Amino acid sequence: MTLPASSRTALAGNMTICRLLNGMWQVAGGHGGIDPHRAVEAMFAYHDAGFTTWDLADHYGPAEEFIGEFRRQFAARYGAARLGEVQAFTKWVPQPGRMTRRTVEAAVDISLRRMAVDRLDLLQFHWWDYADPGYLDALHHLAELRDAGKIRHLGLTNFDTERLRVITETGIRIVSNQVQYSLVDRRPEARMAAFCTQHGIGLLTYGTLLGGLLSQAWLGAPEPRGVALATWSQQKYKRMIDAWGGWPLFQELLLALSLVAQRHGVSIANVGARCILDREAVAGVIVGARLGLSEHLADNARVFNLALDADDLARIEAVLGKSRDLMSVIGDCGDEYR
Ligand SMILES: NC(=O)c1ccc[n+]([C@@H]2O[C@H](COP(=O)([O-])OP(=O)(O)OC[C@H]3O[C@@H](n4cnc5c(N)ncnc54)[C@H](OP(=O)(O)O)[C@@H]3O)[C@@H](O)[C@H]2O)c1
Repeated sequence: MTLPASSRTALAGNMTICRLLNGMWQVAGGHGGIDPHRAVEAMFAYHDAGFTTWDLADHYGPAEEFIGEFRRQFAARYGAARLGEVQAFTKWVPQPGRMTRRTVEAAVDISLRRMAVDRLDLLQFHWWDYADPGYLDALHHLAELRDAGKIRHLGLTNFDTERLRVITETGIRIVSNQVQYSLVDRRPEARMAAFCTQHGIGLLTYGTLLGGLLSQAWLGAPEPRGVALATWSQQKYKRMIDAWGGWPLFQELLLALSLVAQRHGVSIANVGARCILDREAVAGVIVGARLGLSEHLADNARVFNLALDADDLARIEAVLGKSRDLMSVIGDCGDEYR
């Protein structure tokens, strides 16, 4: 399988990424038993198919170590010169507290060591409490570490538009914000996307496939409850579906997507991902990967050859128009964490 050139974009400078990123939260627990050997071996299939970009975090269980082990095996198999083909984007999610240079650098050093890299491709920073302006101190130190060569680019995760504006106005260069964005959760369209366009910031989206609920398997299925929601991811996004409009409306959405999918000979998941890839400011869509347990590589590759037309979008929009406005129910991007 080779992905077309349209599968890639420049996230920042000369760093290109695959526009479908492989999400590693799924190796952190709550998504079935992950075997480390099988998981790292599975990473080769993703890379070899063209899915070269990984999304992880300091708190995603063994994810950073998996990157380190993958890189070691990759260098042995393909030669160290090819390591530049791999992009691994981690996050730093600090506990509240004073953000000294020492605290920040110690956290970065842990990720560098675990991932077996000299420099982090992208460090995505999270902050729990906007009432504490320490996030600006942390970002100031991170920017210095970037300039010193420990980090290539700085990103954020789950920041709202207001705080993104504050950060941008301080002159700290940010290349991306990772936010929840799907046909169900379209909050980024309210304020975030336009701001990102204006400031050259790319959105990396998660929850786009709603933990797999946005797929053929759930079309016509009764409303899942309890153990029927098999992963933490499905539990998380089922709550989002409930806030958005509920299971019967979600079934209407799946039906509309299935008609569009049939027209193009693709899957419901393909249409869901394509819709978000085509939205303003979106650089990439992260698709969770239960490494060694399940994979959808061939199916997801079809996203890059799919072009939706006005009829398709109108059919989908007719359902979305009946939903609640999550911006007024929850607030801006990331407010669900605060
Ligand atoms: N910054 C944050 O706060 C945050 C929060 C959540 C997630 N994330 C990031 O986003 C990533 C994505 O996680 P997510 O929870 O949002 O999950 P997701 O990507 O919405 O769903 C992943 C699941 O979708 C299913 N799937 C994938 N491709 C498919 C296809 N073509 N057809 C049918 N089903 C398909 C798979 O289910 P099966 O394995 O069951 O087949 C997979 O496990 C995470 O790994 C993480 O990197 C970030």
